[in-house]
Amino acid sequence: MNNNSGGEGIIISISGIDGSGKTTLLGRLNSHYTKLGKETLLTKQPTLNYMTHPLVKDNLSTGRTEAGPEALALLSAFDRLCHVSDLKHELSDKDMIFSDRYKLDGIVSFAARGLDDQWVKEINKFCPEPDVSILMNCPGKTAYDRILNRGGEMTYDERSPDILERKRNLLLKYRNPQTLVLDATEDQDNLFEEAVEYIDHYLKKNSLNL
Ligand SMILES: Nc1ncnc2c1ncn2[C@@H]1O[C@H](COP(=O)(O)OP(=O)(O)OP(=O)(O)O)[C@@H](O)[C@H]1O
Ligand SMILES: [Mg+2]
Repeated sequence: MNNNSGGEGIIISISGIDGSGKTTLLGRLNSHYTKLGKETLLTKQPTLNYMTHPLVKDNLSTGRTEAGPEALALLSAFDRLCHVSDLKHELSDKDMIFSDRYKLDGIVSFAARGLDDQWVKEINKFCPEPDVSILMNCPGKTAYDRILNRGGEMTYDERSPDILERKRNLLLKYRNPQTLVLDATEDQDNLFEEAVEYIDHYLKKNSLNL
């Protein structure tokens, strides 16, 4: 975890709007490093504890919530902290943990709903930064088209290219400076190669022979 202080392994996060290609890239990275003999874990934020909460389920489909977005923001920060606490244990015997979404996505999700961004950052400040963070920079319209093609039920936010685009701009605004920003419209092989190069460079720079 940040500066590799939480254990022996590292946390690699991939952020991006819905449909930007996070899960696709993570799957490839995970199998690449597994084949190289690394002990990996693929995980996801928010966790099912958050996603299956009645207030959240309702909000995901309607975009509204009786309890107010502040309640969801607190629940999301709580969920993240519990998840990170579990990950700290996992890091003792894993080389790499790949997280599909992380802190940045949580902050943006609530800043995009008009909550005070400083407050949203404040309640998430106890969650450590990932060791390596990657951001899929994807235009809202591209993501929207991909979500339509992928099929399945769409969340409230996914039904609007404008909301997706607003979130994309906030992700770019709030990312930390070390984040690798990938052009998510590139083909999957290019994205994979750029991500591997970045991760390998991080491992080398920090003398991590995991
Ligand atoms: N680089 C790419 N170019 C074109 N299509 C892509 C690319 N990467 C992923 N896709 C396709 O776009 C769709 C969305 O990708 P994916 O599910 O990986 O996105 P995601 O960011 O995980 O979305 P969500 O946030 O909704 O889980 C999938 O159908 C996937 O095959
Ligand atoms: Mg996904």
